[in-house]
Amino acid sequence: MSYTNKNFPELKNDRLLKAALGKEVDKVPVWVMRQAGRYLPEFQAIRAQHDFFTVCRTPELACEVTLQPLRRFKQLDASIIFSDILVIPQALGMTVEMHPGVGPVFPKPLQDPSEIDALEEDGAVSRLSYVGDAITLTRHKIEGKVPLIGFTGAPFTLMGYMVEGGGSKTMTKTKEWLEKYPKEVEKLLSLLTRVIIDYLVMQVESGAQLLQVFESSADHLTREQFIEVSAPFLKDIRQGVQTKLEEKNLEQVPMTIFAKGGGHSLDIQAHLGYETVGIDWTIDPTEARKIVGTNITLQGNLDPQDLYKSPEEIRRLTIGMVRKFGKQRYIANLGHGITPQTPLGSMDAFTEAVHEAY
Ligand code: CP3
Repeated sequence: MSYTNKNFPELKNDRLLKAALGKEVDKVPVWVMRQAGRYLPEFQAIRAQHDFFTVCRTPELACEVTLQPLRRFKQLDASIIFSDILVIPQALGMTVEMHPGVGPVFPKPLQDPSEIDALEEDGAVSRLSYVGDAITLTRHKIEGKVPLIGFTGAPFTLMGYMVEGGGSKTMTKTKEWLEKYPKEVEKLLSLLTRVIIDYLVMQVESGAQLLQVFESSADHLTREQFIEVSAPFLKDIRQGVQTKLEEKNLEQVPMTIFAKGGGHSLDIQAHLGYETVGIDWTIDPTEARKIVGTNITLQGNLDPQDLYKSPEEIRRLTIGMVRKFGKQRYIANLGHGITPQTPLGSMDAFTEAVHEAY
């Protein structure tokens, strides 16, 4: 298989792209964050044989895992390339390991701002070419059934992992950096922004049809902090991707910003240039619509924990949610990633109910 053939099969289901662009849809499109993940026995089988980042770095494995949920859940209207947000710190020269039951671990996190200069920005995106190869391979193997989403972590979220050395409930060190080293924080976030823009453009060149930016740590920020350390960089990313796609004569793709816990600044997120704003389950759909207006597509927001309820209850909650959001300018999803013990039947109940709602 050559990764240079970009002559992809024709797209048969464009509900996701239509909804993102504000065009009329026959049914509400649905996909699920972390739809390729540990709740699937076939994913567990691959993980039993291969380390997490080996799966990310091997296009055939990443493609296979990306396709797994599509084989099982016929209602899915999108796929998301299997990878992780932490491949960027790796490409900058940091070591990141995935420890079962713990999550990501950086044996040597950034301990002092002077270490920013040691990050290897040059060549970072070419060290991520395996993600592009996985995207290209998947675009062929998916046979145009549904669009393929590419993604990245947002600068602040990536910085948090790089400074804390892994996930953190308190973000103590990151907050200390925000307080003590504002200039250096700006330097790090700008560096990440430059790499992210080129990384996303590379994903589009490889075949990604929509891009989602995960600001998963927005719940640690106040509105004022979001305005300072998140929003400007998110805006630069959206604009930078558009400009570079124009320069390269590539087609534009819609983009989604998902700031988990970002209910404090939905109005700001609606003005960053993204076509779609993702929301978590703590935000009421009607309220969200009032805040973002009618020119933005909303994505979300069933509580992932609701998938532990009975199929009947899941159907009831999902139909209620979809009707609150409305049929147009809406992409159904959970309010965060699906969790590992979720019964498989819950995915059927959720995705079928979305399509039954209208
Ligand atoms: O959504 C998908 O199906 C695509 C794949 C995907 C993964 N990670 C695979 C994964 C995506 C889009 C991500 C994004 C990601 N990674 C985010 C942003 C989304 C969010 O959850 O807020 C973040 C914060 C990470 C970093 C990360 N990766 C953490 C904190 C963890 C451990 C926690 C957990 O859920 O296990 C991971 C591991 C990870 N990334 C797994 C998967 C399937 C499970 C690890 C395993 O298989 O051992």
